Amino acid sequence: MKSLTAVSCGILLWAACHFPAPSPPPDPAAELVERGRQIFFNETFAGNGRTCGTCHPAENNFTIDPVFIASLPKNDPLFVAEFSPPLKANFENPRLMREFGLILENLDGFGDLANRFTMRGVPHTLGLRISVVSSNGPRTGWSGDGAPGDGSLRSFATGAVIQHFTKTLDRIPGVDFRLPTAEELDALEAFQLSLGRQNELTLPLQLKGTVAKRGQDLFLSPTVGKCFRCHGNAGANVPNPIGGRSGNLNFNTGVEDLPDLPQDLTGELAPPDDGFGTPGDGTFNTPSLVEAADTGPFFHNNAIETIEGAVAFFNGAAFNSSPSGQAVGGIILDGTQVVEIAAFLRVINTLENIRQSIDLLEPVAQKTASTVDQIRRSIGQAAQETQDGIRVLSGGGLHPQAVRHLEEALKQIQRAEHGILFRGQQALEAIKQLEKARAELLETS
Ligand code: HEC
Ligand code: HEC
Repeated sequence: MKSLTAVSCGILLWAACHFPAPSPPPDPAAELVERGRQIFFNETFAGNGRTCGTCHPAENNFTIDPVFIASLPKNDPLFVAEFSPPLKANFENPRLMREFGLILENLDGFGDLANRFTMRGVPHTLGLRISVVSSNGPRTGWSGDGAPGDGSLRSFATGAVIQHFTKTLDRIPGVDFRLPTAEELDALEAFQLSLGRQNELTLPLQLKGTVAKRGQDLFLSPTVGKCFRCHGNAGANVPNPIGGRSGNLNFNTGVEDLPDLPQDLTGELAPPDDGFGTPGDGTFNTPSLVEAADTGPFFHNNAIETIEGAVAFFNGAAFNSSPSGQAVGGIILDGTQVVEIAAFLRVINTLENIRQSIDLLEPVAQKTASTVDQIRRSIGQAAQETQDGIRVLSGGGLHPQAVRHLEEALKQIQRAEHGILFRGQQALEAIKQLEKARAELLETS
């Protein structure tokens, strides 16, 4: 009898080890997002080898910058203009790509490739659910033009394939690339909408740091910072309709009028960017600021490297003599105030890093992650987010105690990355440290 029990227990254990738990019921929405992820990172659309992930990589906040670019091998498809003869001229400018992270865009059509183009930075694709909709229709891309088409996120992918995936400058569908199918566009849209924040912040936050708190006051001040007038709740939407228009609006803030734009200093041909429309009206689309501090360089032309510099832009002549600068009655900030507003932007960025890390680690800690691949991806991305938080706070000399908690969280995440046995426990410990870091930044009511 005794031995029989032992045998059946053994069989039960064996069964538990060898047969996976019954899979959860299918969730069509989650499956569409997963399909979109596969397309975004793996599909080349029979083109030059690039994928959406070439310029919007998950491991770099879905954007690229010169430091990331320098880490890529020479044969990375981003550099296709450097090694594919048909794309040698008028497809990219390798110098401006490597030095400033700029990508060539033929926003006004492919009629005069040598002269009609603009050089733009790559925006991240986070928080798109709350940064595209406006009363004038969807606004995607730096100038809100879309790519081109109807400007919607769904159709943006088609424009991206034609612009960036082609094998030759003839750009013939079916020959130089294939166009995404309706089903692929649906999946890509669902995946992109799933990235990053799904909700606006509600400002003011109960911040603990003296400098960041003052920065928030200035940001929200109708007489000093005035930032909230275009970046409601530090996002991409106006808080109140302006002239009957609401949502994610366009403004001419004079970025193009900055003196000594890096791309111009090189002597390379970089025609002025006329913004929305053809011919352009000089306006650009408002980006969200919550995700800004870890996704520089800043502005549509990557003109400014640091978040402090980007805030200081609003204090300068280019902004103050621009149509939008005039409309808000000008903005004057002193050195301390620039740093205070930047500290606020650093802190809200870190809070978002923490939110995302916890979100990613929870299924690992609760053991509800569905696949090994999902576990690996979640842990890897949580490590990236936590590292970003460390970098963003330390870069501004802010909240050293929070940084220590984030570093401790990162250690636990890295342990979970390399072991299997105690992964759930390590994820749980990391979450605790992330919560401690958050408690350093925010009053907990
Ligand atoms: C060679 C680099 C490159 C590739 C490849 C690329 N993009 Fe982009 N992406 C950019 C640049 C540059 C912009 C800014 C374009 C503009 O302002 O018009 C952009 C903008 C976007 C935006 C607008 C984001 C916003 O905040 O409005 C979306 C969405 C997007 N890309 C999705 C995609 C998708 C989907 C693919 C794959 C089909 C893709 N991209 C492939 C460089 C790239
Ligand atoms: C009149 C509307 C308006 C006001 C006021 C305004 N912004 Fe902006 N902001 C924009 C637009 C539009 C852009 C994109 C400009 C471009 O790239 O050409 C932008 C871009 C930025 C960026 C770069 C983000 C990125 O990802 O590249 C930062 C940072 C920023 N604003 C911070 C601020 C701060 C801080 C204030 C207040 C001192 C402020 N803004 C006031 C409209 C505004």
